Amino acid sequence: MTTPWKVSFLDLSVHDDEERAELLAAVERVLRHGRIVLGPEHHQLETRLAQHHGRAYAVGCGSGSQALFLAFRAAGLGPGDEVIVPALSYIATANAVSLTGATPVFCDIGDDLNLDPKDLARCRTEKTKAVVPVHFTGKIADMAAINAFALEHDLRVIEDASQAFGAKRNGKPAGTFGHAACFSMNPMKVLAACGEAGFILCDEEVFKERLVTLRYNGTVNRETCVEPGPNGRLDTLQAAMLLVRLDRFHLLEQRRRAIAAYYHERLAPYVRVPREDPDCHDIYYTYTIQTDRRDALLAHLTEQGIECKIQHPILMPHQPYYAPLNSSVPHADQVIKKVLCIPANEKLTDAQIEVVADAIIAFFET
Ligand SMILES: Cc1ncc(COP(=O)(O)O)c(C=O)c1O
Repeated sequence: MTTPWKVSFLDLSVHDDEERAELLAAVERVLRHGRIVLGPEHHQLETRLAQHHGRAYAVGCGSGSQALFLAFRAAGLGPGDEVIVPALSYIATANAVSLTGATPVFCDIGDDLNLDPKDLARCRTEKTKAVVPVHFTGKIADMAAINAFALEHDLRVIEDASQAFGAKRNGKPAGTFGHAACFSMNPMKVLAACGEAGFILCDEEVFKERLVTLRYNGTVNRETCVEPGPNGRLDTLQAAMLLVRLDRFHLLEQRRRAIAAYYHERLAPYVRVPREDPDCHDIYYTYTIQTDRRDALLAHLTEQGIECKIQHPILMPHQPYYAPLNSSVPHADQVIKKVLCIPANEKLTDAQIEVVADAIIAFFET
């Protein structure tokens, strides 16, 4: 089916012949050796991901949502506990807290669209056990301030790094700032599987062992059940393809950052562009601009055949399930009316990104 868009937001087909051949060869290898469940590629991927981040362990999971749930359970979160999360994230962040029986407490966000450390004190109570910063859009949250607060109040920090594989702050990669970190590798992510996948990073062996138990129905040695858990294992076929994608990651990263640099230069006079601080290396999972004229701009770009998204138009605290908590997140309420994600994926051609920039500039100049 051909896309009706002149510039689509995302294209999940594999255009690059070399990449497609490598992915197919990886699938072929798994089909031939037949160790489909927790096969050698699964183990290789976990080892590579742990090494890549300089952490002791990576535990593969069925999705980013599973990774969050398993990490929260392994951290001992449960009924009666409160967990601070930012107002702006994909709903999986809050849901994973709720699924443990704990209660998410919604913190306001800063201009970087991440959890605002200045709002942490308001959110904390005697029941608070953990903070979950989300590195939204592929920019790492202010981890120095968040970790200082967590240390002062003896809180666990579990990063939701789903959108930030490859991002760095002060040279440290996303996923190395908290007790544990969770990643999604769903097909939309920058490091993407060809289906659902996720992983968790941690350093403590006991924590890792509990994750491994929890991710397969709470069983030890796959037979003896010591606590209830889901089946949250990572698929070996996905692991095999992710190994290919991991080797090619630097190419994606370069292209995403080049597109972002182009947009920065052309769009900064017209809209608020994502600000990359000198100590940051952002990964641009999304390229999110902000403007007071967002709705009119969105209509104009749609009319021009340019597919854009608002991520996520309903803040987590305002979702019907969480609305009864009556959370107050005034800055997030303002910001969410202004944000717009424009196409910025690595498959776009130079001509396409020029079309996007020209259309935005034309909107503001007429
Ligand atoms: C910030 C964040 N957390 C969690 C998730 C959930 O990941 P998954 O879709 O792999 O379950 C996502 C995915 O969109 C996400 O962006």
